[in-house]
Amino acid sequence: MAKESLHKFAGMGQDSQIYYLTAFLATALLVGIGAWLFTSMKKKKSTSTQNTKVRPEKWCLVGKVAKLIVYPIKSCQGIVVEEAAVTRLGLKLRDHNIRDRDFMIVDKKGKSITLDVMPAMSFITLEPSLEKKNHLVMSAPGMDSIVFTYPDEDKSEEKICRVMHDKNVKALDCGDQVAEWIQTFLGKEELRLFYHHVPETQRTFEPYMFECPLYEKTDMGAFQNETSYLIVGQESIDELNARLPEKKSSWRNWRPTILIDNVLEPFAEINWSFVKIGGENVILKAAIPCARCGLTTVDQDTGTLPKDGEPLKTLRQMNKTDVIVDRKMAEVVKNRGIMGIRMGLYVPAGAEGSLIKVGDPIYAALL
Ligand SMILES: *[C@@H]1O[C@H](CO)[C@@H](O)[C@H](O)[C@H]1NC(C)=O
Ligand SMILES: *[C@@H]1O[C@H](CO)[C@@H](O)[C@H](O)[C@H]1NC(C)=O
Ligand SMILES: *[C@@H]1O[C@H](CO)[C@@H](O)[C@H](O)[C@H]1NC(C)=O
Repeated sequence: MAKESLHKFAGMGQDSQIYYLTAFLATALLVGIGAWLFTSMKKKKSTSTQNTKVRPEKWCLVGKVAKLIVYPIKSCQGIVVEEAAVTRLGLKLRDHNIRDRDFMIVDKKGKSITLDVMPAMSFITLEPSLEKKNHLVMSAPGMDSIVFTYPDEDKSEEKICRVMHDKNVKALDCGDQVAEWIQTFLGKEELRLFYHHVPETQRTFEPYMFECPLYEKTDMGAFQNETSYLIVGQESIDELNARLPEKKSSWRNWRPTILIDNVLEPFAEINWSFVKIGGENVILKAAIPCARCGLTTVDQDTGTLPKDGEPLKTLRQMNKTDVIVDRKMAEVVKNRGIMGIRMGLYVPAGAEGSLIKVGDPIYAALL
């Protein structure tokens, strides 16, 4: 019996050795994971709070607001307004809920359809109904306008759609009638209209965005490609147009939400870190210079894609990236055609809902 228990004891000893080793390894692993989580959370926190500490002090008068444009449906026609309210997700009409890129046309997989794929989208307008409160009127040449209202969160099933690399953006479907109207006009089946009903951005960072010192996730907007705001200077467009062989480009090619003019130097806006519009309240901060894509070549008067690749080809040759002060940011947009600066709303306290208007002075500050 003593022999047996001795045997048992020895056996137990081996088992518990394995037990202790396993426990040790498991603890080490847990501590490791904990430490990694802690540092990555700290990292995240520091990238999302650092910018609110930066306060621009020296402002310089650099231009004025020339036009304000709200594009209710991504890639469709904009509404030119005299006044608009600023929100985190973008410009909003003064007396209506219509906000910039709150709607998007998607295919059956929920992927956004854009102007470069369907140039006729430039004819589609979405405007407030003059008769019915909170109703929208969608129109296009040769079509009877269709009146509808925002999809109801309780009645409409939540859908998932894709904007750029983000594959899990929640939206509400605007219904069959609206979908049929769009399909008829664009001549493509299974298109739907989605509405961004979530009150904050649902977008996530791509690795390159971390290279831009002021870029924060909260700048990313609703269905916009990269940020809630795009500022373009008329002087930059003029400078480009002076080099174009034939047809001149218009602001419509560049789709700014805020077109500015009276800027001393063409392309100066791509160097600004902050802009203040009108009074003290509205400050936007630069996220990233706007590297332009084929969409800018669509002739929005005729709804066609020109074959010569202009005005983008000439813009790329101008290679404005080599004069961007922030070299890391310049590296991100290297060798692309730069027109305008993508921005987000800064100092949100008190700023949301403030009005800006055509003619407002623009002040800029550098980091
Ligand atoms: C940006 O700033 C740099 C340095 O001040 C300057 O050399 C460059 O011309 C500026 N770029 C533009 C487009 O104004
Ligand atoms: C937005 O991104 C998509 C996909 O990369 C592209 O097709 C489209 O032209 C972009 N639009 C703008 C305005 O940059
Ligand atoms: C544009 O400028 C960048 C940065 O200065 C430079 O590296 C690149 O070679 C230039 N590209 C062209 C096409 O000139």
